[in-house]
Amino acid sequence: MTSGISRRRFLKSLGAGAAVVASPGYARTTRSMRGSGRGDLRLVFYTDIHADGRDETSAALAMAAEAMNAQNPDLVLCGGDLISGGFASNSKEMAPRWNAYMNMARAIRAEHHAVLGNHDLVGALQNNGHDGTDPRSDFKRHLGLSRTYDSFEALGYRFILLDSLRISNDSHRYEGWISSEQTEWIRELLASTPRDVPIVLLLHMPLLTTFFAATKGTTFQAQANRVVLNNVEILDLFARHNLILLLQGHLHVSEAIYWRGSTFLTGGALCGGWWRGPYYGTARGFTSITLKDDRIEWEYLTYDSSTGHPDQ
Ligand SMILES: [Fe+2]
Repeated sequence: MTSGISRRRFLKSLGAGAAVVASPGYARTTRSMRGSGRGDLRLVFYTDIHADGRDETSAALAMAAEAMNAQNPDLVLCGGDLISGGFASNSKEMAPRWNAYMNMARAIRAEHHAVLGNHDLVGALQNNGHDGTDPRSDFKRHLGLSRTYDSFEALGYRFILLDSLRISNDSHRYEGWISSEQTEWIRELLASTPRDVPIVLLLHMPLLTTFFAATKGTTFQAQANRVVLNNVEILDLFARHNLILLLQGHLHVSEAIYWRGSTFLTGGALCGGWWRGPYYGTARGFTSITLKDDRIEWEYLTYDSSTGHPDQ
């Protein structure tokens, strides 16, 4: 699949001037990399929306869409958890939440792609009245997708979107995992991708994070429902390729890691701390990113700092 960005990007008008604020401590950051050499590509990365259908949060989502449009991105990427609470519920109960999310998604003017989050698995628990067997079916139907992983090219960059979830039978109920079907698909995709092509990976569960070491202590082991368990296997697939950027969600904090030539950005949350205020200093926001020929620039922007409570 090829993006239409290279054709459209010169035709776009400037977005409206919605208010955004650079979060304290998240000033514009730059890191070098090898780009495509075909000019700047402007991205907005947002994640963890947790649409719940309430008037207050729907109004916030409208503000968020306006603020993202004002960044005038070429491409908007969403890291999952579009709705809140799908896992233990059913399609009928979740319909208003999907409507709330889709209202925002339709308001985003740029080309727009999303990956699956754990909250988007609707009816994953049995005996809860869900009439289907595929907990991914609502996500696919609402977004018009035939499967939950994909790849496309935009301005010389290769984007890879992954499904990072597996339902488990233990107390966690789900865990971060990239399926063997996807790893095989990645292998084939990379076999036909020149090694200098810059690659951007998008997924919900983190492939790499310092969050647990920073908040629980350096010897704390992240639980299976917090990170991708087979992360080393996945990262090894890209060892000989130009993997410049990984965009991940789930943790609701804004975080940046540089590891072996790749920048990992954990994208905060559009809902902040589940609509209750900031979470470990990360308020409601999204990440504005520019891929330049020789570097990545990014900034975490809050769009609605007027509400909420102190850090949890
Ligand atoms: Fe989330």
